[in-house]
Amino acid sequence: MHAMALTEYGEPAVLSLTELDDPTPAPDTVIIKTTAAGVNPVDWKIVAGFLQGAFPHYLPLVPGWDVSGEIIAVGPAVQEWAEGDEVIGYVRHDHVADNGSYAELVAAHPRHLARKPESVDAVTASALPLAGLTALQSLRLAGVGPDDVVLVHAAAGGVGSFAVQIAVHRGATVIGTASESNHAYLRDLGAIPVTYGDGLADRVRSAAPEGRITASVDYVGTTEAIQTARELITDPSRSVSNVDGQAITEAGGRYSFVRPQADDLLALSRLVDEGAVRIEVQDTYPLAEAAAALEASKGGHVRGKLALTVS
Ligand SMILES: NC(=O)c1ccc[n+]([C@@H]2O[C@H](COP(=O)([O-])OP(=O)(O)OC[C@H]3O[C@@H](n4cnc5c(N)ncnc54)[C@H](OP(=O)(O)O)[C@@H]3O)[C@@H](O)[C@H]2O)c1
Repeated sequence: MHAMALTEYGEPAVLSLTELDDPTPAPDTVIIKTTAAGVNPVDWKIVAGFLQGAFPHYLPLVPGWDVSGEIIAVGPAVQEWAEGDEVIGYVRHDHVADNGSYAELVAAHPRHLARKPESVDAVTASALPLAGLTALQSLRLAGVGPDDVVLVHAAAGGVGSFAVQIAVHRGATVIGTASESNHAYLRDLGAIPVTYGDGLADRVRSAAPEGRITASVDYVGTTEAIQTARELITDPSRSVSNVDGQAITEAGGRYSFVRPQADDLLALSRLVDEGAVRIEVQDTYPLAEAAAALEASKGGHVRGKLALTVS
C-alpha cells in the first residue's frame, strides 16, 4: 500500500509517499480501505517527534488517527463489523508506528469505530472522530447541560466547532473565543463570539448572562484562557483543558485526554445525521500533499477541519 511515512522526525516535509506492506487482520481487528484521513494538530506534533514521551514510537512512522472508509477484511473474533461496512474511526493505537491513517489501508479495533454518518460524504466524515470525541468527552467532564453558561476557548477550531454545537444542542448558553474573522461563523454555530487577547475576561463577563460562567472548556492552552476561566467560573472543577494539564490542575480544574470510545463515536455520528452537528471542512488535500496540510494546521488558524483524500 501507499502511505505518507517518515524515517526521521522534523518538519512536515520529512513525510514522503512510501510503499509499505499491507496490514493483515489480527483476531480483533478489521482492515479499512481509506477514503479520507482527517488531519489534527497532534499529527504534526508526532511528525516533529514531540510525543515520543507519551507513546512508544517506531520508524518508519505513518501519522494520522482519523479515518473514513470501507471495511475490506475482518478478523475472526470481530462480530461488530462485516466487509463492505462504511465506517469512521479514531484509530489511536497504544504505539505510534506504520499504523497511521495517512495510508491506503488501516487496521482498526472495534473500539475505534462507528458507522459513517449517512448524511455526509466520506471525506467530510473523516474530520469527525478525534475532534468530535474530544469535544464530547471534555464537555462531559465539565458536566455541561441545559442550565450552563459555557465558555469555549478556540471555538472556531476543529474541537471548538464541535464543542460549541454539542453544548448548544444540550441547551447550554455558549460563549466562544475566536478572532473577529470567525465571529459570524461562531454565531452561525449558535455561540456568542468574543475576541481573545487583552481584556478577554471583561468581554466574557459582558457577554455572559449575569456576568458569570458555570463551565469552561479550553482548546488553546494559553495563560489567558486558563486565567479567564478561573476568574469567572463559579466552580473551578468545572474548568477543563485539553491542552495544558499542569496549568489547569493548578487552577483547580481538570485535564482531559481524548479516548477512542465506540459508543461516543456512534453518538456523534447520530448527531450529524440528526442535523445537530455539522462538520466544517475548510480544505482538503490529496494524500501526497499531506505536508501542506500539516503546515496549514501548524499555522493555528484553521476554521473547522482539514482532511486528506486518499482513494
Ligand atoms: N488532550 C487531547 O485529548 C486533545 C485532543 C484534541 C486536540 N487537542 C489539542 O487541542 C488544541 C486544539 O485542537 P484543534 O484540533 O481544535 O486545533 P485547530 O483546529 O488547529 O485550532 C485552530 C483554532 O484555534 C483558534 N485560536 C488560535 N489562537 C487562539 C487563541 N489565542 N485563543 C483562542 N483561539 C485561538 C483559531 O481561531 P482564529 O483563527 O479565530 O484565531 C482556530 O480556529 C491543539 O493544541 C490540539 O493538539 C488535545
